[in-house]
Amino acid sequence: MPGFVALARLSELPPGGAMEVEHQGRIVALFRLDDGVFAIDGICAHQGGPLAEGLCQGGVVTCPWHGWQFDVRTGQSTTHKRIRQETFEVRIDGDEILVAIP
Ligand code: FES
Repeated sequence: MPGFVALARLSELPPGGAMEVEHQGRIVALFRLDDGVFAIDGICAHQGGPLAEGLCQGGVVTCPWHGWQFDVRTGQSTTHKRIRQETFEVRIDGDEILVAIP
């Protein structure tokens, strides 16, 4: 059972925004959409691009390095069907963004 860790403040992540956070060497990309905050592995499955720096439209982020795309709610790549980024459960507690890191 993973523990929830406070990784960022909601006030630091504006609606529509993204940010990269690190926890014990693990890079996580946070995305704030209309229906909540979503967390996926922040290192692109292709060659390690920083997904939090990619353009996110309609819940799909485009890796800034070579354009692979991922649904930030599910981690599923929309350009490479066999690829799925790991996702992490998110809870909001006041201003804190808590992420379940295994
Ligand atoms: S590193 Fe992300 S598409 Fe290549």
